[in-house]
Amino acid sequence: MVYPYQIQSFADYKKAYQQSVDNPEKFWASVADHFTWRKKWDKVLDWNFTEPKSEWFKGAKLNITENCLDRHLENNGNTPAIIWEPNDPNEKQRILTYSKLHEKVCQFAQVLLNNGVKKGDRVCIYMGMIPELTIAVLGCARIGAIHSVIFGGFSAQSIADRVFDAQSEFIITCDGAYRGAKDIPLKNVIDDALIGNKTVKKVIVYTRTRTPISMLKGRDIWWEDEMRHVEEMGIHSLPAVEMGAADPLFILYTSGSTGKPKGVVHACAGYMVYTNYTFVNVFNYQPGQIHFCTADIGWITGHSYIVYGPLSAGATSVIFEGIPTWPNAGRFWEIVDKYKVNILYTAPTAIRSLMGFGLWPLQGKNLSSLKVLGTVGEPINEEAWNWYNEQVGKNKCPIVDTWWQTETGGCLISNIAGITPSKPGWATLPLPGVQPVLVDDKGNEITEMEDGVYKGNLCIKFPWPSLLTTTYGDHERCRTNYFATYPNLYFTGDGALKDEEGFYRITGRVDDVLNVSGHRIGTAEVENAINMHTGVIESAVVGYPHDVKGQGIYAFVIYNNKEGDEALIRKDIVQTVSRVIGPIAKPDKIQFVNGLPKTRSGKIMRRILRKIAEGETENLGDITTLLDPGVVEEIKKGYL
Ligand code: WTA
Repeated sequence: MVYPYQIQSFADYKKAYQQSVDNPEKFWASVADHFTWRKKWDKVLDWNFTEPKSEWFKGAKLNITENCLDRHLENNGNTPAIIWEPNDPNEKQRILTYSKLHEKVCQFAQVLLNNGVKKGDRVCIYMGMIPELTIAVLGCARIGAIHSVIFGGFSAQSIADRVFDAQSEFIITCDGAYRGAKDIPLKNVIDDALIGNKTVKKVIVYTRTRTPISMLKGRDIWWEDEMRHVEEMGIHSLPAVEMGAADPLFILYTSGSTGKPKGVVHACAGYMVYTNYTFVNVFNYQPGQIHFCTADIGWITGHSYIVYGPLSAGATSVIFEGIPTWPNAGRFWEIVDKYKVNILYTAPTAIRSLMGFGLWPLQGKNLSSLKVLGTVGEPINEEAWNWYNEQVGKNKCPIVDTWWQTETGGCLISNIAGITPSKPGWATLPLPGVQPVLVDDKGNEITEMEDGVYKGNLCIKFPWPSLLTTTYGDHERCRTNYFATYPNLYFTGDGALKDEEGFYRITGRVDDVLNVSGHRIGTAEVENAINMHTGVIESAVVGYPHDVKGQGIYAFVIYNNKEGDEALIRKDIVQTVSRVIGPIAKPDKIQFVNGLPKTRSGKIMRRILRKIAEGETENLGDITTLLDPGVVEEIKKGYL
């Protein structure tokens, strides 16, 4: 057995779970023993949820890249670490073995050093899905720089905010990125983000699309030139910088219920151990298997299950540059066939969108290599689950429904492929080390069933190794956001059900966060963006059920001049949101209203707007506390 901590049976799971609850320190130490440490820990866990603090493997020294690269060289140097499938199926794929990836990461780490990047510096990465993105991420980790990857769908303004918040002096980008039929001008967006910026010292630019771009003397440098220089220095390897267990590995910004995204921070040791543990177990990964996670590395799923989890396990990870529907809706199946993919991990929104094309895209594709299917990012509806199971898995692949969050670092509630039972639409059982609890609005544990299930707000009562350590630059924000709603509990922001067998079903966010195509977007963020449009007086944003995206964005807008062309004004508003946040946050529906349902204290009653956006006009609940109940009638009439 290659991974001594790999769960082999349901009985084994129960045993591991029990041990992880009875003696978490002993349990996680026995997993962590199988990693490469420069120095082992003095104490496995030091925690309290009031500060909050959860320090794992205290006193240990390590570098995660030694675990993701160096330790595989001796026996698996020639194993492909990355198989890269380009956007254009006619372009040649690239395969980087562990030896090659090690060399490239070391060389790029040297490039970073040559340009003055030091341990602890924050480096923003804004690139397409190419191997160099992984090289950039691991290059940072090699020298202890903290990476902050920004998804390519974010605007210049969003980048500027993130660069400022993290005080990043370095940026790594590409001239452009290919996504389906589009070329995305990444460097132009970076240039816009840096107008007026005085703190960014270097922008390293990789050539992907050879789009004409501006290159500023003294600030902008070409990746290729820098790498050539290192090559000429004769550098093919570089010792990794020794990191403390609690040193930050990366920052990843995510939306919450306030207007400003938070920089979630993950620390080196705990994140490494937990992403590896969950990768190996949830997908029941067997050495030699090909793992294809379709997420973007700009999100946590890509960080944990394209880069760190698979590579720390010596796995082969497929990186796909393009989109599932280009040049046609058979692209995923073509990739599965081409590389004999064994594990496919994707989002319900992708499944629903592909379902819409019927069965022809699957015809003639050999999917028999598939062993395990996975989903993440949002609740999966039964219809999509069944389609995935029947048409893709041919009824022989277990589907793991993995529930987790940017803040949790890795999967917390999920079935284990082929080992613990699955139940369509249910994430099922907590993984070892995870102690969920459902509470009511006052924080009391739910002890009574309602319609055969327990219903409540999902919290976790004990830390696991990849729990976020802070929100960058503002620890108090971390406390108030996650640990202050209910004393001594980590609050997830999700609602959930639990059945008599202890299986969990996640029902969705209970805070003001939307989940659009598996992307987290705060309603307050979208409102702020809409309100920046000159004609907008006020707005309120809620989610509504959307066939493909899961949730769509519905905006109620008070506009000061109703004379103009409404369709055009709507487009202007959409454009404003796209500029301020990025195309991913564009509202799907904009309804102009004269007033919003507010209480006498001025609070918008979103509950009512949510119902209307869902198409519900009857049971709107108690509206007598509204300042002007009349607005509700008007809003109902204007429903789109
Ligand atoms: C939702 C993505 C139902 C949930 C890894 C969570 C899910 C948010 C599932 C986190 C699932 C994620 N079933 N809902 N299997 N997985 N979610 O931070 O609402 O982008 O709070 O992390 O996605 O989104 P994030």
